[in-house]
Amino acid sequence: MTISIRDLIADVNPDLFDNFIAAVHNRRPVQGFTHNFYRYPARFSPLFARTAIEAFTEPGDIVLDPFMGGGTTLVEARLLGRQGIGTDISSLATFVSQVKTTTLSGDAIAGIRSWAAQLNDKLNLRNPPQRALAWIEHGYQHNINSKQTWPLRKTLELALADIDNLPTIREEVRKLSEEIQRATGENVELAYVDQGYTGERASGFAAEHGIRLEVVKHEEAKRGFVLLPRRWVVERDFAWASRFRRLVKDYERLPDTVAGLHFVAFACLFLQQAVGILSAGS
Ligand SMILES: C[S@@+](CC[C@H](N)C(=O)[O-])C[C@H]1O[C@@H](n2cnc3c(N)ncnc32)[C@H](O)[C@@H]1O
Repeated sequence: MTISIRDLIADVNPDLFDNFIAAVHNRRPVQGFTHNFYRYPARFSPLFARTAIEAFTEPGDIVLDPFMGGGTTLVEARLLGRQGIGTDISSLATFVSQVKTTTLSGDAIAGIRSWAAQLNDKLNLRNPPQRALAWIEHGYQHNINSKQTWPLRKTLELALADIDNLPTIREEVRKLSEEIQRATGENVELAYVDQGYTGERASGFAAEHGIRLEVVKHEEAKRGFVLLPRRWVVERDFAWASRFRRLVKDYERLPDTVAGLHFVAFACLFLQQAVGILSAGS
């Protein structure tokens, strides 16, 4: 049996059929909201994504785009009051979609504007280069490495070198450090962080809460996939957690229950280790 799109949509809402067909044929350039932050190839038309979301979902529903690309569908889902979830094999797609769907508070936007305003003096192309290793590793500089585009690349590198002064990052570190210490009874002394948290300001805010930040990075640019040092710590913890059946399956309805079970699981794991340490010392 063949089901036409008309039948499929007629089941949901017959009035939407004409809109849907018009949206499929829509050839207007992608624009509006955050759609133009990055020109990801082969994007859906936002109008098509919007019409499909309106046709098949209700506000509050979850919209999944397993090949999210530049995140067009996720942006439209958000605008229509749905929850968007996306995955993609490309880390660039993940990055772009994250940027496009992150909601910033008025304070954060004001902070970014004031940061950008004070950047001008630091973007002198005669300043020494500041290689953004993490960006190079992710391949984000592929298309800006030519003779014509080096000023663009260098401007970006100089701006990134000042990212430590971005107020939103400082606030994030302060809030996270406070929350971590509250949850752990002030027991965390060392935190491994990625290069987004480089610099004295981030480490200063963590230090206010008794946490030493150690930035995990490669010492030099790498080609291809190379594991970050200390990454195994994270992977090992996931592996440990997966030995507890209740954590492997999606049994729980409440996030609080899952969080509590993690606490129990890790208490068991650490107690086992404590036995070894204590008996070795006695
Ligand atoms: C054309 S884009 C998708 C556009 C997007 N749906 C939108 O709303 O604009 C296709 C994406 O599929 C991703 N992709 C291709 N094969 C994949 C796979 N096996 N698993 C996950 N993502 C994949 C590509 O990396 C690319 O970003």
